[in-house]
Amino acid sequence: MTLDENHAGAHEARGLLSAPLARPRQRVMVLGATGTIGRATVHALVRRGHDVTCFVRRRAGVGGALASHDSARILHGATLRFGDVRDPAALARDGFAGERFDALVSCLASRTGAPRDAWAIDHLAHMHALAAARQAGVSQMVLLSAICVQKPLLAFQHAKLAFEGELMQSGLDYSIVRPTAFFKSLSGQVERVRRGKSFLLFGDGTLTACKPISDDDLANYLADCLDHPELRNRVLPIGGPGEAITPRQQGGHLFALVDREPKFTHVPVALLDVIIKTLGLTGRVLPPLAAKAELARIGRYYATESMLVLNPDSGHYDAAATPSTGTQTLFAHYADLLQGRAATERGDHAVF
Ligand SMILES: NC(=O)c1ccc[n+]([C@@H]2O[C@H](COP(=O)([O-])OP(=O)(O)OC[C@H]3O[C@@H](n4cnc5c(N)ncnc54)[C@H](OP(=O)(O)O)[C@@H]3O)[C@@H](O)[C@H]2O)c1
Repeated sequence: MTLDENHAGAHEARGLLSAPLARPRQRVMVLGATGTIGRATVHALVRRGHDVTCFVRRRAGVGGALASHDSARILHGATLRFGDVRDPAALARDGFAGERFDALVSCLASRTGAPRDAWAIDHLAHMHALAAARQAGVSQMVLLSAICVQKPLLAFQHAKLAFEGELMQSGLDYSIVRPTAFFKSLSGQVERVRRGKSFLLFGDGTLTACKPISDDDLANYLADCLDHPELRNRVLPIGGPGEAITPRQQGGHLFALVDREPKFTHVPVALLDVIIKTLGLTGRVLPPLAAKAELARIGRYYATESMLVLNPDSGHYDAAATPSTGTQTLFAHYADLLQGRAATERGDHAVF
């Protein structure tokens, strides 16, 4: 994608979109509905009056914490069907069930990002879902991807990119949404700071920046993709409102909220390199450690790469070229967390 295309995207962020197509209620199949963005997206689609069906696991959520009745409660307003998204027969039989659907929306993603799981879920399960969706008459797919695939160094990024390519070639209308950082990924230290501890930073805390996007703002943007023609057949990097912020600014703001002098602990990136190397070497003998090495590589990536649009010519991240959408800010979320008005579900990716 060129930077010009990204600039075009900036004018299309929510709020500047043209009026939606006057479409009747659509029949939408949602994958990954029990995840952070999947839940918010189901709520957004149901609020807009769509007929939403979710294909989910009987035990879902982080560590399988959700039984089927929990998923039904969380995804209120949608129809739930249960089965294994990795099994093409189950997808067709138990998911689409021989019925017609208008659109497929996927927030499905490997929970760990470990290479084998990423290729099984982010790539292969999506390939099966695309085939089943075609059979069901689906003409449009909205895919939740990630902005980091613009600079792919990790296995899960290659798996995502491989499916993005297949979708673009599929002949279906597509919207590939590549968001910046989610609130949950930037909230891991709220509790530490509340308990009086320091805020941990890689380097001086200004190595990276991002435009955090809330679950609901992203969910609305994904739902917009169903009925705004200018969001079709596009790769759409998207961030939240306001300026890009660094980890140091996040920490500084947290200390202001708890009314304490900022206290930072600096962690050298080189420490991650040592961990990656050690786990990589020992992982040759003990395979579980190889998986841990990949998780450490993921941590290093986020410690050193910004979640902003990358200018392919300069090789620099460009906050101004990163489109924004929505109204909810990370700092308001921090205040909500500290006041107990919100909670964060930490995923398997969490570094701090
Ligand atoms: N975190 C960030 O800051 C960030 C930023 C930009 C982009 N992204 C991207 O956004 C996407 C979604 O993120 P998220 O935080 O919403 O993900 P999440 O909370 O981890 O949810 C993942 C979803 O995929 C499902 N899934 C995973 N493995 C499965 C399996 N083997 N079988 C069936 N379902 C499976 C999960 O179902 P269960 O509930 O059954 O496990 C869940 O519904 C990811 O692609 C991520 O790379 C993340």
